Parts: sequence; C-alpha cells; structure tokens
Amino acid sequence: MSYLEASRRQAEALREKETVRILALETSCDETAAAVIENGRKILSNVVFSQIDLHELYGGVVPEIASRAHMEACDRVVDQAAREAGMTLQDMDALAVTKGPGLVGALLTGVNCMKGLAFAAGKPLVGVNHIEGHVSANYLTHPELEPPFLCLVVSGGHSHLVEVADYGDYRLIGQTADDAAGEAFDKAARVLGLPYPGGPRIDALAEEGDPEAFRLPRPKTEGKYDYSFSGLKTAFINTVHGLEQRGEALPKADLAASFRRAVCRELTEKAEMLLQDRKGTARKMAMAGGVSANRELRRMMQAVCERQGVPLYMPEIPLCTDNGAMIGSAAYYRLMRGEIADLRLNAEPALRLV
Ligand code: KG4
Ligand code: ZN
Repeated sequence: MSYLEASRRQAEALREKETVRILALETSCDETAAAVIENGRKILSNVVFSQIDLHELYGGVVPEIASRAHMEACDRVVDQAAREAGMTLQDMDALAVTKGPGLVGALLTGVNCMKGLAFAAGKPLVGVNHIEGHVSANYLTHPELEPPFLCLVVSGGHSHLVEVADYGDYRLIGQTADDAAGEAFDKAARVLGLPYPGGPRIDALAEEGDPEAFRLPRPKTEGKYDYSFSGLKTAFINTVHGLEQRGEALPKADLAASFRRAVCRELTEKAEMLLQDRKGTARKMAMAGGVSANRELRRMMQAVCERQGVPLYMPEIPLCTDNGAMIGSAAYYRLMRGEIADLRLNAEPALRLV
C-alpha cells in the first residue's frame, strides 16, 4: 500500500478516535517551534526556539540565516516537544507542518523535516496555512470558542478583517492596501533606533509615553474595512526627522505612544464599524497574530467589544506570536475533514487564507 493510501485509511479511522494527538512544526519565519496538541484544543507541550539573537545584528530577519538555523534546530525542537508531552513519534496520531505563507527557505526546511518523519513513521501529514494557525491559537486559549466569529488578523505580514464562517471556511472582509500593522511597528521602531523586533519594544516604551503628544494623520482607504499604514509611517518618519533637524532630543516614549495609538485607532475603528454594521448577526469577535499581543490594541478592542455588546476572544500573549501549538490546532480540524498531504507537499511562500 502506498504511503498516501495508508495515510488516508489512518485519517479515516481517526475520526472515530477519542483522543487525537498531533505533533506540529512551525518554521515559516524566525521561530523554530514544535508542539503536541490533543484534539485541537489542549497543549501537551509547546517548545519555541527563537532566532532573534541571530538576526538582531542585521535589524531584521535574514532569510539565509533563518533557513540554516531552522535546519540545525528542527530535529532537536521536535524531539523536545515529543519528550515534554511524554510521548514518542510512534504515539502520535498525525504530524503537521506550516506550508505557507512565509520565507521559502525557512518553510522548506520544516516541510522536508516533517515529510521525512511522516514517511519514516508511516503517519498522516497535514500541511497548515500559517495564518489559519494564528486564528486557531484562539481555540487553545478558549476551548469553548466555535465558529462563526469575526477575526482581526494582525501580524508581521497581515492586517486582515475576516469572517470565520466555519472551521477552514474564511471570508475576507478587509485588508491592508500597503504595509501590515506589524511591519509598520517594526519600521517605526527602527526610526527610533530600537532593536529588532520593534513591535514589542514600541509597545513597552509606549506604556510610559503620552499618546496625544504627536498628531498623526488618519489613513484614507478605498474599501470601507480596508487598512493603510504607509501614510502613517511616513508622517511618523517626518515628525522624527523634523525633531532631529531642530536638534531636539527625541521624546521616544511620547513618539512610541502616539504611533501606537494611531495604529490601534485605525485597527479598532474599522473593527467597530464592522460590528456595528453586522449588529445582531456578528456575535463574537476575535484577534490573532503577533500584533494582537499589543497591550494598547487589547485594551482598545476590549472597549470596542464592550460598547458593541459582543465577547472578545484573544490568544494568551505567548500564543499570539509564532508557535507550533497553533499549527497543531489548525491541523486537527483539517485532519478531521480528511485533508492530508502526500509526499509532494511543498512550501507555498505566498499562500493566502482567502
Ligand atoms: O505573527 P507574528 O509572530 O509573525 C508573522 O506571522 O508575521 O508577528 C510578528 C509581528 C512583528 O512585526 C512584531 O513586531 C509584531 O508582530 N509584534 C508586536 C507585538 N508583539 C509582536 N507589535 C506590536 N506590539 C506587540 N506587543
Ligand atoms: Zn506569524
């Protein structure tokens, strides 16, 4: 029997099994991360090996260095995830790996690692969309959460408003016309001379600053629910240059707080408009992606959802940024629908959610 045929039969049998455990690997960017997840909801282990130290010197992720570091780390990280869950490879019901979007070399490292393991162990393999992973992080923090819900997806590469109609069924409502929110935070941080990754540093610095100290423009977009951050970024750069040209010391905390407020205002105003427009039909709101760790964004979204009378779901902070647990959760629902990969599974660097 071929590997694929054997996998199909196993995946079919798993639908009747009470506990399904998936070993998942994430290597789309600069984190080598693996986890064991039970029934899409329970974390048995979650190991994240960050490469930040390797990239910090260059002020951003260097793709070549990322691929190499994933290659060196992935066996060890996968082993550790299995060990911390008290299991061996043979105890797993299936394996999962991020197939895209992300850096092609980084993705390929993970995909090849898991293809090898799946073939050797004779286990079904699920290829997972990284963004679906971010959305699924909510299922780990909130075991009671079920679709449908609306979700604000904000990461280093995405600023999307989506409707999660069902597991694996997404509708795009709005997206950024230029930069992603995370990208904007990272660029603003660089202008302030903060090290990579800038988002969390701006966030921390902003806690001590005055968000009204500097006026930044409100972005204009074509679509009602679309985003734009490049104008905001340019205005911020001009403000900083203006201060520098006048020889003034940079009030970094005030600048960080003003920029953070402007980005979060843009993100939350569109989300609130959507909730208002769908009053009565949209009953739940969620957030996902690295930027959903932002303290101001979490506070402002909480206020929006209270005003609109809907509950807000957010992953706990460590599950907002890249991790293997979210990949294991997303994989479970794909596996239950029989969506498994064959050995031709490839990296898809530009994969979309919708
Ligand atoms: O989701 P993620 O870990 O990776 C991608 O899929 O892109 O998101 C990383 C992005 C980076 O741009 C990082 O600066 C940003 O999320 N980020 C934050 C915070 N934590 C991470 N941005 C603002 N505030 C934070 N607390
Ligand atoms: Zn991510």
